[in-house]
Amino acid sequence: METLKPLERVNIKKAAKILLKSKNTIVLTGAGISTESGIPDFRGENGIWEKYKPEIYGNIQSFLKDPSKFWKMAEEIAPNLFNALPNSGHLALAELEKMKLIKAIVTQNIDELHQKAGAVIVYEVHGNINRFSCLGCRASYTKQQILNKLKKEKGSTPQCDYCTAPLRPSVVLFGENLPNFEKFMSIDLAKKSEVMLIAGSSLTVAPICDLPVYTLKGGGKLIIVNDQPTFLDEKAEIVINNKTGTVLPLIVEEIKRIKIKREIESNQ
Ligand code: APR
Repeated sequence: METLKPLERVNIKKAAKILLKSKNTIVLTGAGISTESGIPDFRGENGIWEKYKPEIYGNIQSFLKDPSKFWKMAEEIAPNLFNALPNSGHLALAELEKMKLIKAIVTQNIDELHQKAGAVIVYEVHGNINRFSCLGCRASYTKQQILNKLKKEKGSTPQCDYCTAPLRPSVVLFGENLPNFEKFMSIDLAKKSEVMLIAGSSLTVAPICDLPVYTLKGGGKLIIVNDQPTFLDEKAEIVINNKTGTVLPLIVEEIKRIKIKREIESNQ
């Protein structure tokens, strides 16, 4: 649990009040919310792109030219990614959904930790690691089948059992379009939201980094919980530069405290 500065405690109380009052809140999450589950992010400290250049390891053109580069990176991060468990930040957001205080979670993450934490309305704008398909004949493979292949054919690129073409994950690589439904749904939600709670994203990758701008243009407010500054901090109602795993549960705790206080006052 990270220590909190007095101003952060004030901002947690403020955020709880804003979330309780808002009739239309959505959440936008990035890789930062999953680092406390052991999954490295991309641009934070020791981020994946420091070791693996995205234009070589995360780009569709380079994948089609030589899939082995992507699979070398995947071999290193897949076990962590596949076996990770949700942390207190994911659980806090799932609880906000249960309390009907958020309409949806738009996530850039492919790790399915929001769903594992119990959240249901989750839009995965960059796909997920649940499905793999063959570049040649479109045969589809599960996570477990891929893990077995990575174990058995160590160091080589997993190939299709039927046509031997390389396999690819159902994630969005740089240079690819986002899934239409999730993209347009997220833009519509952002335009209509009174509040967008942003957790663990550097807000550096389009088109998703534009979502908070839609919220602002529609007169909505931003609450940013991120341990590094973002380009929208000056426009945000609240910025808390601390760990999502620490801050989000404290916001939920404060919401519960306010609700109980209001209940007691209304019964007096
Ligand atoms: N609590 C709060 N913030 C954190 C934590 C944490 N526990 N851990 C990391 N962060 C912050 C980092 O400092 C960084 O600012 O979260 C942010 C994560 O930013 P990125 O690594 O850029 O991840 P994200 O914003 O999700 O990237 C968007 O880029 O490479 C593509 O497809 C990839 O979906 C990804 C997209």
